[in-house]
Amino acid sequence: MNNYTQKAISSAPAKVILFGEHFVVYKNPAIVGAINKRIHVRAEVNKILSINIKSGKNTLSVPITSNARVMKVPDNSLSFLYPIFRCVKHVLSEEYKQTMGINMNITSEIPYGEGLGSSAASCVATVAALYSLFSNSDKNHIYDTAKIMEQNIHTNSSGIDCYVSTFGGIVNYEPDKGFSNIRARKKFTLLIGTTGVKHSTGEVVSQVKLFREKNFTLFKELSSKASMICTRAKKAMIEGNELELGNLLTENHKLLYMLGVSHPLIEKLIERCMNNGALGAKLTGAGRGGAIIALIPTETSKDMATRISRESGRWMLVEFDHNGVAIG
Ligand code: MEV
Repeated sequence: MNNYTQKAISSAPAKVILFGEHFVVYKNPAIVGAINKRIHVRAEVNKILSINIKSGKNTLSVPITSNARVMKVPDNSLSFLYPIFRCVKHVLSEEYKQTMGINMNITSEIPYGEGLGSSAASCVATVAALYSLFSNSDKNHIYDTAKIMEQNIHTNSSGIDCYVSTFGGIVNYEPDKGFSNIRARKKFTLLIGTTGVKHSTGEVVSQVKLFREKNFTLFKELSSKASMICTRAKKAMIEGNELELGNLLTENHKLLYMLGVSHPLIEKLIERCMNNGALGAKLTGAGRGGAIIALIPTETSKDMATRISRESGRWMLVEFDHNGVAIG
């Protein structure tokens, strides 16, 4: 039997995909950044052999002996707690072979189901808190497990969300080279707007798979353009070229639009940002709802954000996070 402590806390950041979503599933490059919005997890061993997950008014309680593979979440409104349950079950029962109950308390600054990596961040933070009970804080180990858990939740996941949530920073992913950090010369400011339209990443990824099967030549053309955009964007960040970066965001959005993953509300939010002086804007994540990001000049970011967010919608001014998962 392993020794363990009774309590642990952890947190992990949300992410935005700056360039290359969807195409990355088919071995294209992507650029992703962790942002300063986090999910916080507190894990505490209980004596009642039950996994109790609490987030605000929502609770999910499951006996530790239940089978995670066949278990269905009783209520759709609790589906955002499911990744946490899967991670708890996996780490305790399958990795550490423990029969013990646990209380998980979750607080989140990340809107759920809006393409900001809430499910990856919840997997990363949960795995980190549980590993910490057993004195394991190896980030590579946390990433490997969180990635497998996230892939159980949506098949075809590229793993980029879990990577950036674990390690933080702005990360360039290339299929043959793996992940590498981009050291941006300038501090870039992003405004995130959420449509409030929730989506399932897995479903949108499946729809893109169908699109690719039906329109293979067009998909290849779009992929190759997306790949070139990533190369130019990496250079623009390293050189601190805000104008070029903004244009590339808009270029990338056009490709996603052609892929069919935009949404009328996404187009509306992007238009509002561009009409108010944003340097570029695009949807981020899976699309078909979810969120947009707009690059706004750092010097005037507060005024511009106020102007853009005056009308409807939920907006967040964010910076990049360079810490990744935090324990304790
Ligand atoms: C989801 O945040 C990003 C997608 O590219 C899927 C993935 O990479 O796993 C749409």
